[in-house]
Amino acid sequence: MAKTEDYGLGEYVFPRGWFMIAPAAEATTVPKEVRFFGEDMVLYRGESGTPHLVEAYCPHMGAHLARNTTSYVVHDGEHVQGESIRCPFHGWRFGPDGQCDDIPYAEGFIPKAACIRTYPVVERAGIIWMWHDPEQKEPDFPLPGFGGHWDEPGWVHWKIDHMGDLNSHPIEIVDNMADVAHFIPIHGSSNISYFANEFIDHIVHQYFSAGHRTLVSEEDQDLTLDTWYEGPSILQSEMAGDYPSFIMIAHTPIEDGLTRVWHGLMVKVNDGSKPITEEDRAAALQYQEASRLALAQDVEIWQYKRACTRPMVLKFDGPFARLRKWYGQFYNQRSEAGEVHKKVNGLVATVDKRKKDQVA
Ligand code: FES
Ligand SMILES: [Fe+2]
Repeated sequence: MAKTEDYGLGEYVFPRGWFMIAPAAEATTVPKEVRFFGEDMVLYRGESGTPHLVEAYCPHMGAHLARNTTSYVVHDGEHVQGESIRCPFHGWRFGPDGQCDDIPYAEGFIPKAACIRTYPVVERAGIIWMWHDPEQKEPDFPLPGFGGHWDEPGWVHWKIDHMGDLNSHPIEIVDNMADVAHFIPIHGSSNISYFANEFIDHIVHQYFSAGHRTLVSEEDQDLTLDTWYEGPSILQSEMAGDYPSFIMIAHTPIEDGLTRVWHGLMVKVNDGSKPITEEDRAAALQYQEASRLALAQDVEIWQYKRACTRPMVLKFDGPFARLRKWYGQFYNQRSEAGEVHKKVNGLVATVDKRKKDQVA
């Protein structure tokens, strides 16, 4: 598997940004091991309901804070107390700030160095998100809002599809944003009338209008999509149609060159004036499944392709080089991001066959 260095992305192995680490239901008061960015971490929910993410290994003698089922700390229900997590080995306990707050046998003595690393997490839209930053600073762009639909009445929430752990560098997934030529063979589009990318600082949009083999019936009727990344790893797409819907695709590096991918789709089944029925939920699930299958067509390619460190780009292909430059901003110091924005910001239309009266 090709690594960040092979793509010449920048000085950091893993990018800066917001990343999905788990469906929210997986964060409970039973601490759970997770591994991303080449690091072992532990996800747990404090008794207040707040999720916490901490480094996995205890500074005392290195026990794993989650991987235990037999310690009396676990049996006696002392693994999570309040917002703190207790090590199963000798019982040292750590607060959500990472500082040790109890050593059961040390008569109140706690060394200052007894602390574990903590990572910023936010729960939103049924997902636990982590801010990952090689510079270990506060976020310099916000976590996406997912169209605000999660809290809107009339919308059926997504269930999370795990699409697999792919032996691919995430750049191969992000490349999709510029990839106009895969829509017809992979996704069954037809007659592409418009394809453009707009780069706006940490955001990149893909505007797409085309017919489709099965999704639209009328000859000259177009599906029109606005799909965008906010930061390096979170794709969102707002879709009109029989049901308005909203796609989320998130991917997170596990190791350099190994990437986990998830998918979800929210569906608006009514205007919020009436309750959501079981039939509505079933219809929404079916809608999500159709969307999952479309993504699975990309996943099958990613799974088996070799790494593409230097695409052989035609002028009819989309702006891959510009997109990769945009993506590189997350692998370098944030102080250099402004320079990248100056170079890449703007609109690039690869296909524009719209009739004059369609052009706004
Ligand atoms: S290794 Fe964690 S308390 Fe000793
Ligand atoms: Fe695709």
